[in-house]
Amino acid sequence: MSLRAIEHLLKQKMGLHSSTVGSGTISQAVKQRMRDCSVTDINDYRNIIGQSTTELGALIDTVVIPETWFFRDAHPFAAFSDWVRCEWLAGNPTLPLRILSVPCSTGEEPYTLAMCLADCGVAASDAQIDAIDISSINIQKAGTACYSSNSFRGTDLRFRDRYFDPDGTHFQLKDDIRDRVRFEKLNILDPSFIENRANYHVIFCRNLLIYFDRPTQHRAIDRLEQLLTRNGILFLGHSETSLLRERPFVALDFSRSFGFRNVENTEHKITTTTPHSSRKQAQVRKPDKPAPASPLPFADNTGKSRQPDRNTVAAQDDDLLQRAFQLADQGHLDEAANLCEVLLRQQTGQADAHYLLGLIREAAGNPAAAERMFRKVIYLNPDHYEALAHLSVICKQQGDTDDAQRFHERATRAQHRNQGTSG
Ligand SMILES: C[S@@+](CC[C@H](N)C(=O)[O-])C[C@H]1O[C@@H](n2cnc3c(N)ncnc32)[C@H](O)[C@@H]1O
Repeated sequence: MSLRAIEHLLKQKMGLHSSTVGSGTISQAVKQRMRDCSVTDINDYRNIIGQSTTELGALIDTVVIPETWFFRDAHPFAAFSDWVRCEWLAGNPTLPLRILSVPCSTGEEPYTLAMCLADCGVAASDAQIDAIDISSINIQKAGTACYSSNSFRGTDLRFRDRYFDPDGTHFQLKDDIRDRVRFEKLNILDPSFIENRANYHVIFCRNLLIYFDRPTQHRAIDRLEQLLTRNGILFLGHSETSLLRERPFVALDFSRSFGFRNVENTEHKITTTTPHSSRKQAQVRKPDKPAPASPLPFADNTGKSRQPDRNTVAAQDDDLLQRAFQLADQGHLDEAANLCEVLLRQQTGQADAHYLLGLIREAAGNPAAAERMFRKVIYLNPDHYEALAHLSVICKQQGDTDDAQRFHERATRAQHRNQGTSG
């Protein structure tokens, strides 16, 4: 019973919904903290975290999933740099450029943004990067700017040579990049998150909302929407994009960036913010422009180009699959899922249809169903990088670190093999 009470408290305080990480993960964290505090009765521990913000903070530090790395997913950062060069710098901007990374975890994401800005020729004094996370341990680590090889996972590591100095088995970020980021320990659900905070031109909020239930996800998005400038850009994680349905955002014309432009016409007034106000507005006000036909967030998610050969029956199925991805991008998840079912009944496009169904189940907050789909994908195509990567994250969220590691290693091998075969 007390574990349930602790889960309830964590949800109240930090938004964590126990089903997204599994009760096992929370139970392990609680046991570890009880050992560290020499407490044997879970009811006593529940009382302690109800009274001590320090111990509650320590539990939060233990339970959070800090998984992150430099240039994670690559495409959002390419889209960001493209936007900085083609829109921001080209548009005679009012300085400084304001950017928010929340949650920033151990700093890899905001430092990646700082490296992108340096590569684009933006002077440190012309941009401000704020980086926020609820975990004091993560913020502390971010401040040291010293990283092991685990934070460098891609194949192109030229940025490491440019911006880091080797330090034994680690790599130390150079000061001119490090000094571009300002870190702050803060809860995105805390009222002070928006109070007295000026608007941002760009917000990265990736891989946080997946841990919240629907109402909390929308509370968080309300806040981000209020903090964005008109035409500001919001980047979400790939399975979080359907949350922008019915909101005044349009997808960026940049494949797999999961970036969206705010097309709301009203600026946030710091003094008059009320929770949910922008959500209500957004529900009655549709985007000025229809979402672009392509590329869209779910589209191109298989990493393949979809140019159908119109002389074959397979091409029609390919069209159907492409249509399913487009519907998913536009937030029509039920219709997209129905099309996938049609394809599966026709025994065509099996792996990709299962993969899209997995993404849809994940976006709907059903990791167990998503996992089943992704497992079918890798049964049909053992080198399906994206499905392997999703499985790794799902297993990690469920506290199954061995399987998470195995899938991660398989994904890395598949990525190398796929790159080898594509030239
Ligand atoms: C998986 S990391 C994501 C890091 C980075 N955005 C990325 O995509 O690589 C999730 C982070 O969310 C943070 N977090 C969890 N709940 C939070 C909250 N309510 N407010 C702010 N940060 C939170 C955790 O401390 C953790 O560092």
